[in-house]
Amino acid sequence: GRIPGFCAAPVGRMGCRCCWALWLLLLLTATCARLLFCWYSGAWPESGAWTSGPARQEACPRPLALALQQHAHFGGLFNLSIPVLLWDGLLTPELWDRLSHVKAPYGWHGVPREAITSTLSLLNGSESAELLAESHEPRGPWPCIRCAVVGNGGILKGSGQGRLIDAHDYVFRLNGAVIKGFEDDVGTKTSFYGFTVNTMKNSLINYRDLGFTSVPQGQGMRYIFIPSNTRDYVMLRSAILGVPVPEGPDKGDLPQAYFGPDVHAGKFKLLHPNFILYLTEKFLNSSVLNTYAQDIYMPSTGALVLLTALHTCDQVSAYGFITKNYWKFSNHYFERRKEPLKFYINHDLRLEATLWRDLHKAGIVQLYQH
Ligand SMILES: *[C@@H]1O[C@H](CO)[C@@H](O)[C@H](O)[C@H]1NC(C)=O
Ligand SMILES: *[C@@H]1O[C@H](CO)[C@@H](O)[C@H](O)[C@H]1NC(C)=O
Ligand SMILES: *[C@@H]1O[C@H](CO)[C@@H](O)[C@H](O)[C@H]1NC(C)=O
Repeated sequence: GRIPGFCAAPVGRMGCRCCWALWLLLLLTATCARLLFCWYSGAWPESGAWTSGPARQEACPRPLALALQQHAHFGGLFNLSIPVLLWDGLLTPELWDRLSHVKAPYGWHGVPREAITSTLSLLNGSESAELLAESHEPRGPWPCIRCAVVGNGGILKGSGQGRLIDAHDYVFRLNGAVIKGFEDDVGTKTSFYGFTVNTMKNSLINYRDLGFTSVPQGQGMRYIFIPSNTRDYVMLRSAILGVPVPEGPDKGDLPQAYFGPDVHAGKFKLLHPNFILYLTEKFLNSSVLNTYAQDIYMPSTGALVLLTALHTCDQVSAYGFITKNYWKFSNHYFERRKEPLKFYINHDLRLEATLWRDLHKAGIVQLYQH
């Protein structure tokens, strides 16, 4: 039931069916290497099929772009051409005009101009425009970049998903991503760490006793700054320069203490404010935006990181994200005793839970749930 090199999953088990006629047609017409040779048919396997993970060297069994084409609603929402990252090359007078009237994280209203321009001038190479390394060698003629995004939800405790998580090409983590002691459940690999300076420092304070004593570090790791505030631009600039933060609430902080000793611009990525606005409007347009809390509402860090992966990778699995049965699990996987999930007015986790469920049903993300 398997055509070597083409269909990654044994027929049936993963709902993937190879079709030679389609394949030949695509061979003739496809100019885009991401076009696909397995006909996607249906939703993800329900729980029970989770023993089969992504294996390297296999082609994309469930490409996101094809699932989007086949889904009227989400196909119309996703814009895979929108720039995910902001860098110097995108800074035009028009962008300045537009963003300077919009408050953070969607724009620059209230953020000193100097903080923005001095930071962006350091993000001036092509590596600042792309999340994934250009050196990523496509395996075989049709690349499939598989990403795992690991949230910190209690559903991961005792899950044994670590090996499958680490088998992805890239692993995204965020905020209080405790690894030591939880390797079997959450894996050990980290390619990207997403955060705002506020959420990173709160995690280091609040979860220190539970094992979050340092942000993931390592050669080749990349940091995704979410620009929720002036302090994010100032920390990013200091991180690239490798100097102590000169001003603001983080004054005196040494960025190397967070991000490790090796410093260069390519290590730090900045989410585009306009991308955050697009994500909020299209995917997480919460009814909170009609209330007094509209000024503090924004998608959660986890939501921004997962949606970033969905606009970057060919296939995305989400682990440790909120599910409909969240009440069965502790707030985080690293808590010793079960603690209920806390809902704050600045995020809309119920709306996020609905979004992940619907994206899973549509075959666009593979959401770990049980
Ligand atoms: C998608 O984003 C690009 C770049 O911002 C834009 O030019 C294009 O109009 C967008 N497409 C749709 C359908 O909105
Ligand atoms: C980027 O900016 C740095 C510092 O201003 C400069 O040394 C470097 O040559 C610039 N690189 C490019 C590709 O323009
Ligand atoms: C967001 O939802 C509100 C209703 O709550 C609606 O009026 C508005 O048009 C929506 N915005 C977008 C961008 O879809």
